[in-house]
Amino acid sequence: MALTKEEKQALIDLANTARQRAYAPYSNYPVGSALRTKTGRIFTGVNVENAAYPQTMCAERVAIFKAVSEGEKEFEVITVVTDNGGSPCGGCRQVMAEFGLDTIVLLADGSGKLIKETTVRNLLPEAFTPDHLKS
Ligand code: THU
Repeated sequence: MALTKEEKQALIDLANTARQRAYAPYSNYPVGSALRTKTGRIFTGVNVENAAYPQTMCAERVAIFKAVSEGEKEFEVITVVTDNGGSPCGGCRQVMAEFGLDTIVLLADGSGKLIKETTVRNLLPEAFTPDHLKS
């Protein structure tokens, strides 16, 4: 099902509002994410940093893990909002790929402007997926 412009903007706005709750005292790079499942449920996430830097968790993964922990594994779209419309890190691309290469990815900047619309497949070509573990 194609997303309307209004639906895209609503998700971006939710992610941007969530972004205000990011815990990013070390990088000062707050990230907000909002995903919509195929059943229509919405989950948000923010990056959560740690004084032991590697323990940081990205916003996209928080949103995905919240969804999975609530029983949702099929995603339609995930939005990522940063100050400058930055692109998801490699680890987040891999976690997105686990749940479907056709998930739409919307990247927006801090003003809520859509910077790029793409898919997990485009962000992670030749992805290693659960299918590779089947014999
Ligand atoms: N970050 C995310 O939340 N998502 C990404 O895809 C890229 C990076 C966070 C991690 C860290 O808190 C900050 O942005 C700077 O790397």
